[in-house]
Amino acid sequence: AYKEEIAALQPNGAASLEEYRIRFLGTKGIVKALFAEMKNVPADRKKEFGAILNDFKVFAEERYDSWKAALSGAEESGAASDTDLTLPGDPLPLGSRHPISLVRNEILSIFRRLGFSVSEGPEIEDDWHNFSALNLPENHPARDMQDTFYLNQNPDWLLRTHTSNVQIREMQKGKLPIRIVTPGRVYRNETISARAHCFFHQVEGLYIDEHVSFADLKQTLYFFVQELFGRDVKIRFRPSYFPFTEPSAEMDISCLLCNGKGCNVCKHTGWVEILGCGMVHPQVLENCGIDSNKYTGFAFGMGIERITMLKYQINDLRLFSENDVRFLQQFTSSL
Ligand code: PHE
Repeated sequence: AYKEEIAALQPNGAASLEEYRIRFLGTKGIVKALFAEMKNVPADRKKEFGAILNDFKVFAEERYDSWKAALSGAEESGAASDTDLTLPGDPLPLGSRHPISLVRNEILSIFRRLGFSVSEGPEIEDDWHNFSALNLPENHPARDMQDTFYLNQNPDWLLRTHTSNVQIREMQKGKLPIRIVTPGRVYRNETISARAHCFFHQVEGLYIDEHVSFADLKQTLYFFVQELFGRDVKIRFRPSYFPFTEPSAEMDISCLLCNGKGCNVCKHTGWVEILGCGMVHPQVLENCGIDSNKYTGFAFGMGIERITMLKYQINDLRLFSENDVRFLQQFTSSL
């Protein structure tokens, strides 16, 4: 009869559950009282009675446990008893990495495999590390190649125009050989448009040892673009000028969008420029206390935005800094 009573009970709320516990399971409850009756049961029927009582006790306890579980579940979700616990949960939105970070990480990992390590330096720099040490003395016309933001408080300080300052700082440490890549943000006073911004990101590289040659430079960069863009990519070098390298070159890759047939990205030439490079000027080595008779080296520098635009076919540089989630959510790689 008690079993039927329990089965018919529908405790709702913590108070009625507690009432149930006291009535059936408490120290003065029905279960205890029934067990106390055992002493009045004839010896030959004790076994049978004990089994029935035990069965009832377990039944009553299980009821209590399951009601309690249902009650706490309902409390957590804020509903009383009509919560549908079988509904799927709310999905947690996952963020995605910025495309510039993705491509930077990919570039760094390729050079790490070649034995380069990553080095970083300050974005606010003094004139010497950004210009003079790189063979760009004051009033050198090549300073105009990079429109510079100077700090009002002290015109000897500026926002670095390239990450070459990190190369200088690394060479000054005097530990040779050097094999580094230097990722970071750089600043130039340019009008903001689809193709230019007042800040962007670079990865530069520097390798200095005995007997480093232009052939090493070419093979390193060829390996790099094949890893980044695929085995079919072609490269070509055009002579160029940088005060800190001699000889200097710009490197183009074959246009991956039109395969040389001609499109807007390569302006119908079949080639796109992706980086500047050259053999480190002996004067730069000497400026940093490195013996230029003993050591040679190569350096290169590339803009991450430009490479990202090529890789993902993005046509406007401003997208990178507008933080439009519809743009950012499209990049799902886990690199
Ligand atoms: N520092 C150059 C720039 O920012 C890139 C570069 C680096 C060129 C190293 C040659 C060698 O434009």
